[in-house]
Amino acid sequence: MATALLPDSADLHNVNEPAELPDFDAFPIRHRLTAARACGQAVDLVWDDGAETRYHVMTLKENAPDIVHPVTREQATMLTDIPADLAAAEVGVDGVGGLWVRWSTGGISRFHPGWLRAYAPGAPEDVFALPPRVTWDAATMADLPRFDGPAAIADETVRTAWMEALYVYGAAILEGLPTDEEVIHRVPSLIGPLRETNFGKTFTVESKQDATSNAYTTMALPVHTDLCTREYEPGLQFLHCIRNDADGGENILADGFRLAERIKADAPEEYDALTTVPITFYNKATDTDFRCTVPMFDLDKDGDLSDVRWSPWLRAPVRASFEETDRLYRGLRRAFALAEDPAFTVTTKLKAGDLLCFDNRRALHGRVGYDPTTGGRKLMGCYVEREDLVSALRIMLRRRRAAEV
Ligand SMILES: [Fe+2]
Repeated sequence: MATALLPDSADLHNVNEPAELPDFDAFPIRHRLTAARACGQAVDLVWDDGAETRYHVMTLKENAPDIVHPVTREQATMLTDIPADLAAAEVGVDGVGGLWVRWSTGGISRFHPGWLRAYAPGAPEDVFALPPRVTWDAATMADLPRFDGPAAIADETVRTAWMEALYVYGAAILEGLPTDEEVIHRVPSLIGPLRETNFGKTFTVESKQDATSNAYTTMALPVHTDLCTREYEPGLQFLHCIRNDADGGENILADGFRLAERIKADAPEEYDALTTVPITFYNKATDTDFRCTVPMFDLDKDGDLSDVRWSPWLRAPVRASFEETDRLYRGLRRAFALAEDPAFTVTTKLKAGDLLCFDNRRALHGRVGYDPTTGGRKLMGCYVEREDLVSALRIMLRRRRAAEV
């Protein structure tokens, strides 16, 4: 592969600054180009580690730093205003191992080598990868990750470590917070806005005479995810402990992803049913009727587990074929039995001032029953979307990349 001749009009071979970026991310230059070749609507690049990557000219053109909006860096040219037969007339490697392209329509665009590598089709590495999630059970998670609450509020490093643990393990506790009722508004807002539901912007978990949910009684609760009846199941749940001095009332958590791994290993056909046979999750109430019909385990485009809807008590009659229903019930029976096994659960008694947070689309939560004649139990809760946590983590990773530049 031969590098094209440089244009006479621009001495790009001697530039010593990489091209501008078409977004606000940071791209350390870990690899540089050694050669570039135009081939119709394809641009082929060779890197200093031997990797070869091919880009479509449309991908390059509509992300060219010289045509995105100079302030917002959003695309400012309609795709339909770019000729469909656009080609790279000439390409070359600039002085910092980036790419320049002379377009068939005229003009030259430059591309940053770090940006090119990050967005390479079939890139050898995923620059944007989030920290890998680590699944757990009782043997590998003796206690949930804990962080100092006031420090997480005041210190970005502690806050980042808390958020990272929350993403990686799906649950974490902030300790030593005040017990005033503002905490449930103030601390979750560090991640994102509170999501209001039919239980309000925040809710109080304590026994009530006119309970509208089993949560508002003193009974034991098997593990579950909240609001699995909603089209968009809340992503993060926060529970702030105001008081917890009655006998019992411990919180029980299980990693739904770990349980799914175990089911997949032990009974693949049942796992298949849980990932494919739709279940209608619906609430039973006189004034609302939320229904969501999806499999219990939702897989992403790569076939990896993305979301769990786990409800022992909010499922409508199954309307699949007899054979599918049979597999589904065997899978559900296995799942619910596993979740009862202490080998898969962590039990913790929250102290006043603790703030438990967990991924409600991954971590299952329940509670041990308690005796209200021996003391009180009051938790305040709210929901925040998981994508706000993921966005915060991406900004954290962006800052780490920026420190490397
Ligand atoms: Fe719940």
